[in-house]
Amino acid sequence: MSRFARRITQTSEKSYGMFQKAFAKAATGADLVHLELGKPSHDTPDHIKQATIKALLAGKVHYSDLQGELPLRQALQKKLAEYNNIEVSAAEILVTNGLTQASYAAFMALLDEGDEAILLEPFYPQHVNKIEMTGAKVVLAPLDREAGFRIRKELIEAKITKNTRMIVLVNPCNPTGRVYSRDELQELADLAIKHDLVIVSDEVYEQILFDGAEHISIASLPGMKERTVTMFAFTKAYAMDGWRLGYLAADAALMPGLMKITMNEVTHVNTFIQDGALAAVTGSASVLQDMVDDDRKKRDLVVSRLNQMPGVTCAMPEGTIYAFPDISGTGMTSQVVADALLEKANVVVEAGGFYGASGDKHIRVCFGSQSYERIEEGMDRMARFFNEL
Ligand SMILES: Cc1ncc(COP(=O)(O)O)c(C=O)c1O
Repeated sequence: MSRFARRITQTSEKSYGMFQKAFAKAATGADLVHLELGKPSHDTPDHIKQATIKALLAGKVHYSDLQGELPLRQALQKKLAEYNNIEVSAAEILVTNGLTQASYAAFMALLDEGDEAILLEPFYPQHVNKIEMTGAKVVLAPLDREAGFRIRKELIEAKITKNTRMIVLVNPCNPTGRVYSRDELQELADLAIKHDLVIVSDEVYEQILFDGAEHISIASLPGMKERTVTMFAFTKAYAMDGWRLGYLAADAALMPGLMKITMNEVTHVNTFIQDGALAAVTGSASVLQDMVDDDRKKRDLVVSRLNQMPGVTCAMPEGTIYAFPDISGTGMTSQVVADALLEKANVVVEAGGFYGASGDKHIRVCFGSQSYERIEEGMDRMARFFNEL
């Protein structure tokens, strides 16, 4: 009789939040405005597609470098030095199947049964299952909600025990839209050094920044390169979510362990799409900027409209494609609001409680996944809903 392993039966159920409920309602023919999934609305830029097609037609269809093609890793090395201020060699870069595989490799390579991994809460839910599958325990440490979800050293240090092995950072932050300052990152770095912890840093939104916000990689702070696994992806900024392309940067000492996971899992990333990635990294920055400008217009629309709705206040996201409005003025919890918006207004947003208890006074509204007109329609429907409460 076959049975599932404990990593399947003794880990939490993977939840896709409102996506599943929306799927059921859409099946009834309802015209839904989807503001829940973080799926970029743009198409992948043409020069990236062309480079990939060229590679495919040129016969780049065979096994390749297990760590990622060298020209791509060299281009990423230059990008990491110039943009992230992270000095690594090409041997300290690993090309992965999206950020998802980079984080899986980091958790699997660094966590043992009985270890604890701290997630800053509100957290990115997809990290939870992966940590649990290693046999380690997820421990939540709150961000300071009253101060706009700031990193607060004391709140995190209170959760550190003798079993703590790592802290997972998401910067810029999904779901709050915060871009952490140097001071906040230094607080976290001080803790990591004091308690000898690893930082696993998810920087998937590093290039989606507004109003001059500066993205600082925690690995660039003194003493942090050796104890940080920094993870990136082409997913969001280059609108390449379906390509499944990401990479990580880590100290040479960690690389054999990380590659033991990725090589056993998938051997390496598809060969020909790495030419597309190379075109993305070496191509014009203006293509990227045009998409971010478009996201900024949508952010401005969403934040200004949300702030006119009774019971709703919304801080300006500094980065990412998410607004995280406070709906506590309605007197309802986030799940009740998200369910009612789906039911009565045919608008899909995510309940803030999906990201942890301190998110429960918020909903997450994705402004990066629809056209401007469709977002306007969503805002009209939401305005009617909150006005009628
Ligand atoms: C914080 C965060 N990390 C990782 C991912 C997944 O990235 P990828 O599609 O490159 O695996 C997402 C996607 O929404 C995200 O928001």
